[in-house]
Amino acid sequence: MHALQTTSLRVADNHLFILDQQALPQEKRWLSAGTVAELVGHIHALRVRGAPLIGLSASLLLALLAEQGANRDQLAQALETLRAARPTAVNLMNNLDRMKQALAQENFVSALSAEALRLIDEDKQLCDSIAQAGSALVTAGSRLLTHCNTGGLATAGVGTALGVIALAHQQGKVANVWVDETRPLLQGGRLTAWELGELGVPYQLITDSMAASLMAKGQVDAVWVGADRIAANGDVANKIGTYSLAVLAKFHHVPFYVAAPQTTLDPLCPNGDAIPIEQRAAAEVTGVAGSFGAVQWAPENAQVYNPAFDVTPAALISGWVLDSGVVTPAEVANGVFQPK
Ligand code: MRU
Repeated sequence: MHALQTTSLRVADNHLFILDQQALPQEKRWLSAGTVAELVGHIHALRVRGAPLIGLSASLLLALLAEQGANRDQLAQALETLRAARPTAVNLMNNLDRMKQALAQENFVSALSAEALRLIDEDKQLCDSIAQAGSALVTAGSRLLTHCNTGGLATAGVGTALGVIALAHQQGKVANVWVDETRPLLQGGRLTAWELGELGVPYQLITDSMAASLMAKGQVDAVWVGADRIAANGDVANKIGTYSLAVLAKFHHVPFYVAAPQTTLDPLCPNGDAIPIEQRAAAEVTGVAGSFGAVQWAPENAQVYNPAFDVTPAALISGWVLDSGVVTPAEVANGVFQPK
């Protein structure tokens, strides 16, 4: 495969490398992801993260393993192991379904490589289209609030919700971005703050519990978040804390937008109750760990509940901003996300 570089993926000398998203922003460290075990380890540890990026990294690795001589059975096994790496973001399953079709072709080595590269190119275009559609909804002087990380780090392109914000900023319409730090793993405080800084977008970092008082003071004009899975009825699974923001936004009459590519749609999933929610390790809540080391503040053996995602009901969402354009609540109620 030819050399390839996105914000957080690199292919060089037929080998996959990932930008360690747990080391950012303190350190820009590239790690080998040359085997299924290595990549699955990175995905579990969120060194590779973000709904679109997980699927793209898995697809690239499969294509590279095929080029290195893995046979069809080995690749089928690798595909199933990668598919199980994280359960909530459906982009992983959607991307791997396409890779499975490529694997079924006679010349599967070139088919897998072509499909993985196509997925990367498509993701870039999907991000650009989302940014175009979403930025039209941003009004001049906007103070926007975002959660988790939905930028170039999480995709092959400019990002989803953060891509919208970046383009709206280029268009001179963004006065400030409130960045939720996004406990427990701090994707907002570590990654979104870093990306906005690199892009020159004005932002202020807040703890997740500060959004309510900002909205009460009239200091939030719209909330923009990404999605890990959109069900057929419009319910959205996204990073834990998204649902509470949507409730707050409804109460304060603040528009709440979800930005996502078509690879995040799951028409076969009837509603949010059917979306599998990943439960994660207690240590993420009993303290904090990163490139700076680890700190634990909770008592030893503290009991913990740690779902990585929550579900925002469709009724709280003002618009689903996809690459195909803005989908309205009325269109969702009329079944636009239902299976064709
Ligand atoms: O657990 P993560 O960091 O992989 O979280 C997934 C996400 O990045 C999202 O929640 C995001 O909003 C969708 S990906 C652009």
